[in-house]
Amino acid sequence: MKLTALLVGSGAREHAIAMALNRKGIEIVSLIDKKNPGIIQLSSETHFVNSFIDGRKKLRKISADLAIIGPELPLSLGYADILKEKGIPVLGPTSQAARIETSKIYARQLMETYKIDGLPTFHVCSTEYEIQSALKDLNYSVAIKPDGLTGGKGVKVTGDHLKTKDEILNYALSLVSKDGVVIVEEKITGLEFTAQSFSDGVRAEIMPLVRDYKRAYDEDKGPNTGSMGSINFQDHLLPYISRQDLKMVKKIMEKTVDAIKKDSGETYHGILYGQFMKTDDGPKLIEFNARFGDPEAMNVLALLETSLADITLQINDKNLKTPVFKSLATCVVYVVPEGYPEKPISGAPISVNPRKDAVIHYGSVNLEADGKLLTTSSRTLGILGFGNTVKEARERAYSSLSGIRGRIRWRSDIGSEFA
Ligand code: AMP
Ligand code: GLY
Repeated sequence: MKLTALLVGSGAREHAIAMALNRKGIEIVSLIDKKNPGIIQLSSETHFVNSFIDGRKKLRKISADLAIIGPELPLSLGYADILKEKGIPVLGPTSQAARIETSKIYARQLMETYKIDGLPTFHVCSTEYEIQSALKDLNYSVAIKPDGLTGGKGVKVTGDHLKTKDEILNYALSLVSKDGVVIVEEKITGLEFTAQSFSDGVRAEIMPLVRDYKRAYDEDKGPNTGSMGSINFQDHLLPYISRQDLKMVKKIMEKTVDAIKKDSGETYHGILYGQFMKTDDGPKLIEFNARFGDPEAMNVLALLETSLADITLQINDKNLKTPVFKSLATCVVYVVPEGYPEKPISGAPISVNPRKDAVIHYGSVNLEADGKLLTTSSRTLGILGFGNTVKEARERAYSSLSGIRGRIRWRSDIGSEFA
């Protein structure tokens, strides 16, 4: 019997999920808030909503054998809760369990309470006095973080974004006046990496590690973005990450899903994503997400040999098996609108004539009735190249960019330090 999967979300990450499902002959019903031509083309049925905020009514009417929720917004709105009530196995945690992403304070306090490794020193502050003492305690070498979702753009770090003591204090105060609370955290230095895992609430099966490039411009200059590109290596590790580090990461992830269960009673069914920094004391956890990364989903899903539908069913049966990934390197280059992230040009036409040796993931684009493809204010296309090495993978990704025209730009140095 052919399985039908409901796919929620309309970016490049969800296009990657759709491709993985389609490869295994799974029928796709999609619930989208942007007219992503890649997802529409792979779906047998498409439901369009103007916003996921008011998409729940439509969601209740859709039936499927399983469901995969891509973005954090529908997770935070309880899409998984609704589908579970309908008896549909879901890849994606309930809104309570998704607090591991939607509240950074919750995530930090959970790690503290359950003594989970990799926790930086942090203070939760709601007054100027508390902020001042936290800053003194950490010698003004800090990351200032809002509690809630900000699309990767709310965290500011001493040195990178905040130069003077006044700037640090004022940014923390501005978050308190907006949200009533702010996290003042020890600044960690080291190389970042992404560990995404599948979890059935007990086990965490770590996928190939990914390095992503968050800054807007070459040489890691400019503001943080949702990410401008990402790479993985053929051995599924990174040159600066050892097997011992990986063991520690797996332990952190498994202790975290266990802590969520103990704390909220919710079994974590979904992707647990850890953004880590490798320090002299081992990996430190920067943040958790309750979903695949974007672009990191493209790297790992391109290599996934096991059926994503089977993984979803195994997770919901609490019987997760080790998934298989091809031993290849990948490189994703994100094409973004000119001016992104500060003043992106949205509504500009683009043309896409892909070369055969790269995979084009449609991101935040809209397909108009006349067939024109228009940019939005978010990232436009994720271009993925494969290879036996990162060098080969990045050459394939970059060489296919010549087939893409419009008021767009990209970083030219994704993976260059390893090629
Ligand atoms: P987040 O939204 O928590 O992923 O933070 C965005 C970026 O801010 C991260 O990818 C890091 O580059 C940086 N960052 C977050 N927390 C810290 C920290 N404690 N120390 C240094 N940099 C951090
Ligand atoms: N690449 C970062 C994220 O998906 O949050």
